[in-house]
Amino acid sequence: MTPAAAWLSKVAQQQTHGPFKRLLPYLRNPQTVSLASGMPAPSVFPFKAMSLELVSDGDDKVTVDIQPSELSAALQYGATSGFPPLLSWVQQHVAKAHAPPNQASQAALSVGSTDALYKAGMAVLDPDDVVLTEEYSWVTLFAVARDRGAVCESVLNDDDGMIPEKLEEACQRLVAQGKRPKMVYLVPIGHNPTGTSLSLARKKQVRLFSCLLCAVR
Ligand SMILES: Cc1ncc(COP(=O)(O)O)c(C=O)c1O
Repeated sequence: MTPAAAWLSKVAQQQTHGPFKRLLPYLRNPQTVSLASGMPAPSVFPFKAMSLELVSDGDDKVTVDIQPSELSAALQYGATSGFPPLLSWVQQHVAKAHAPPNQASQAALSVGSTDALYKAGMAVLDPDDVVLTEEYSWVTLFAVARDRGAVCESVLNDDDGMIPEKLEEACQRLVAQGKRPKMVYLVPIGHNPTGTSLSLARKKQVRLFSCLLCAVR
């Protein structure tokens, strides 16, 4: 088991790729005529191309044109992790903007934060695992934790968001009690409902501490 796999929930460890997704590499071959799944012919898609006009500061009109070949590929059944060209852009962005310390890190697309949070909860949380979060937190987190049988514990925040030293204290206390702090959830910018934002220094401290926690498990 890889170190990352040890963090997965028992449910996630048992998951395998769906049978249809395993066929995808073969179905992408234009020589293949597959009777296995209902991949619609691009000619029946209701949209052919798209041109989106963006909100812009100046007078210049900014448009994004999505060509027929790109649109038909995006409308077709595809990989669970998301539309490959968009996913690749996201992966490059994450590598450049966030430089995750784990080289094996990967990204996946979701249809919003709620969807991502549920999937993350399913992926890592087992019953009785502990989720550390700010003193007040986004309501969906509590629903996700409850559905997985996990427990939320709050970490004190002040006007600058979660206090890193309090996070460290909470982790040490939990580990001493034999409990598993498995997830740290925070809203670092424009926190809902308190409106606070973590300073850069605090973000670095929280991230460093979370990485150390991964390393010692
Ligand atoms: C902190 C926070 N997370 C998630 C959401 C919902 O995000 P989404 O619409 O992407 O599911 C909200 C919406 O207000 C929010 O305040």
